[in-house]
Amino acid sequence: MQAIIGGTGLYKLTGLTVTRRRAVRSPYGEPSGALTYGRIGNGEEIIFLARHGHGHAFPPHRINYRANLWALHEAGARRIVSVASVGGIGEGLAPGTLAVPDQIVDYTTSRQSTFYEGGDQPVVHVDMTLPYGEAMRRDLLAAAARCGIAVRDGGVYGCTQGPRLETAAEIRRMERDGCDMVGMTGMPEAGLARELEIDYAALCVVTNYAAGKGASSEAISMEEIRDTVDDTMQDVHRILGELVGG
Ligand code: HPA
Repeated sequence: MQAIIGGTGLYKLTGLTVTRRRAVRSPYGEPSGALTYGRIGNGEEIIFLARHGHGHAFPPHRINYRANLWALHEAGARRIVSVASVGGIGEGLAPGTLAVPDQIVDYTTSRQSTFYEGGDQPVVHVDMTLPYGEAMRRDLLAAAARCGIAVRDGGVYGCTQGPRLETAAEIRRMERDGCDMVGMTGMPEAGLARELEIDYAALCVVTNYAAGKGASSEAISMEEIRDTVDDTMQDVHRILGELVGG
């Protein structure tokens, strides 16, 4: 079964015929919301979960990533596409661009980032050499290609703690670290997915130039972010429809 985790601007899927909704309790607490089951066209049943909850209730550092991933896995999800908005750092990542990253640098602090807490749990160090599932990445890129929508293949996603945006110096440091884009939710989501052996990939929407990037050194406005998300979401819906629709 495939699942889609929707980020900022993606709270429900266009064309999804909802079959049922299910509230799931996890040993880690409450997920961001009930799991929505449905189909696009004659496709197989999928699950949708809005990462930030109903009405964007949870900021990135308050999302219960463990509960979300556990609930999706318990429901049978073995492949997950995460949709996430990012700031563009690298060349060619202007607002409105879509990207499927292939690497991550994690700058988050004090998030619950593992299912293996020690104690009576085994000590487990999952391999994260390639943090995203290559099969899921390929399928996502192929779906975009069939739609004729340009998507950047690869790039390094730097995950910051938030909820504040970054300083220009932080973005310069991230650039030196090799980051191409910056977001706040990619981790621990990808690491938790790996612990559960879920084939996980991200479709990132560049909503703004990261702090100090782009032509102007003006402040980043939430309005700009929202407008770009709204403009670009149609393409995201088409790609997801192509991926999971029948
Ligand atoms: N920084 C961090 N996260 C983001 C940004 C940004 O500039 N834009 C969208 N999500």
